[in-house]
Amino acid sequence: MKIILLLVTLWGVITLNAHVDEKVLYAFEKACMSCHDTYKKNKKAPPLVAVNQVYLRLADGNMTVAMERMKTFLAAPAKERTLMKPAVKLFGVMPKIELTQEEMRDYAQVLVETEFEIPEWFDEHYKTHRLKKPQEDNSSK
Ligand code: HEC
Repeated sequence: MKIILLLVTLWGVITLNAHVDEKVLYAFEKACMSCHDTYKKNKKAPPLVAVNQVYLRLADGNMTVAMERMKTFLAAPAKERTLMKPAVKLFGVMPKIELTQEEMRDYAQVLVETEFEIPEWFDEHYKTHRLKKPQEDNSSK
């Protein structure tokens, strides 16, 4: 029941650019949304809209680049691979979740290709974070 409610929540506020199977959305919610609320800043993890915006902005809107980068992170979450440094400071690095290649691709697609409404707090909040593009990251490693 909770999952159904979550799905309704997600469907209500988003538009998906690509066709994503409903089963994938269910699985995504089960695996990811217990920590990543859609919009609320909770005490567990950044909301989906923040992950989406950070990855897209740092990839200059290139969805393929954003998705590849996200898959690399999901395969082996590690501090050096994170783009959301302020979130890492707040919550620690995300724990590794066992996912198949297919699941990583599907979930990265949901996170990157979903058109989330940008909440009012986001832009101001984002400005307070000094986020680096992946290529800038490499030089400082
Ligand atoms: C146990 C809680 C938890 C679950 C479950 C979880 N995450 Fe996370 N996730 C976090 C936290 C905490 C962060 C912020 C720290 C970080 O960036 O590593 C995060 C960050 C992320 C990031 C951004 C990483 C970066 O900094 O570049 C992505 C992408 C992500 N999660 C995807 C997912 C996906 C996909 C799932 C479902 C398979 C998922 N998460 C499930 C806790 C969780």
